[in-house]
Amino acid sequence: MKEKLLQIRESATEMIEASKTLQELEDLRIKFLGKKGELTEILKGMGKLSKEERPEMGKVSNEVRDHIEDVLKSKKEVLEADALNEKLRSEVLDVTMPAKPVSVGHKHPLMKVFDEMIDIFIGMGYKVAEGPEVDTVYNVFDALNSPEDHPSRSTSDTFYFNDDVCLRTHTSSVQIRTMKTRKPPIKVISPGRCFRFDELDATHSPMFHQMEGLVIDENVTMADLKGALDQFVKRFFGQNIKTKFRPHHFPFTEPSAEVDVSCFKCGGVGCKVCGGTGWIEILGCGMVHPNVLEECGIDSEKYSGFAFGMGVDRITMLKYEIEDIRYLFENDMRLIEQF
Ligand code: DAH
Repeated sequence: MKEKLLQIRESATEMIEASKTLQELEDLRIKFLGKKGELTEILKGMGKLSKEERPEMGKVSNEVRDHIEDVLKSKKEVLEADALNEKLRSEVLDVTMPAKPVSVGHKHPLMKVFDEMIDIFIGMGYKVAEGPEVDTVYNVFDALNSPEDHPSRSTSDTFYFNDDVCLRTHTSSVQIRTMKTRKPPIKVISPGRCFRFDELDATHSPMFHQMEGLVIDENVTMADLKGALDQFVKRFFGQNIKTKFRPHHFPFTEPSAEVDVSCFKCGGVGCKVCGGTGWIEILGCGMVHPNVLEECGIDSEKYSGFAFGMGVDRITMLKYEIEDIRYLFENDMRLIEQF
């Protein structure tokens, strides 16, 4: 028996030393020391020994077990250190490797146009006024002198929440909010989103953008309106661009006009951008109606003013020759990356 024990001691030591992986080592532990291991099997034979032999064999088997455990333990430390070294070697950081490209976002063409417009107006002394997209029917229509039966008020044109609240159909509602909270002189622009019950197609979107302008002071005349818009147009589209004021009707201005600019693409000869006419319509404007001033508590005998509102989506599309308004809202990187 002693011989067998010493044999196990020897072969276990040998095999453990030769093992190459932690898994191999664990298999050897089970092979020799496990419940059904070789050492255990031999110890089962202890019962057959004489009383005198037993303590001696007990001592030897304990020594063999301790020895195997020691060898296992030190081999395990060696293998673990090897594994760690290997891991460190394989995960070494190569600082010379090219970095992953960082993708930088692009400003949306609409926002570029907004920023450009805002810069120009700020340069002309305007302040930016903001208003909510959900507004009262009073601010959107009533206070703007729009008659009860005006077509734009119908439920087929306007998104209503209830009789008194709707999504604003134009940024003109900010005129009312501004005149009710500030005293003249007033000189503001108001960029923002508007909503109309429109079928989505190449030129219409139920959500679109406008830039409103409002100037109120003593002795403001139509000449000031023409001068201001002409300045804006020249700075935005180019110094050689001409403006044309065509009579029009808006409930909140009197007189009212629509403004065309000479085509910045063909210089007025006629091309695809201007539909062959040489002119491009860009906005509505006029002298603020006395009813609107009075409704906002501004003395229409003392003060006068002008207002204008332009469609920013349309201007963006013209400027960048984007054919379909839907491209502006689809967030396709292939479009955005071009600007
Ligand atoms: N609110 C008008 C529209 O949405 C545009 C407009 C016309 C704004 C004349 C004005 C204005 O301030 O004076 O069609």
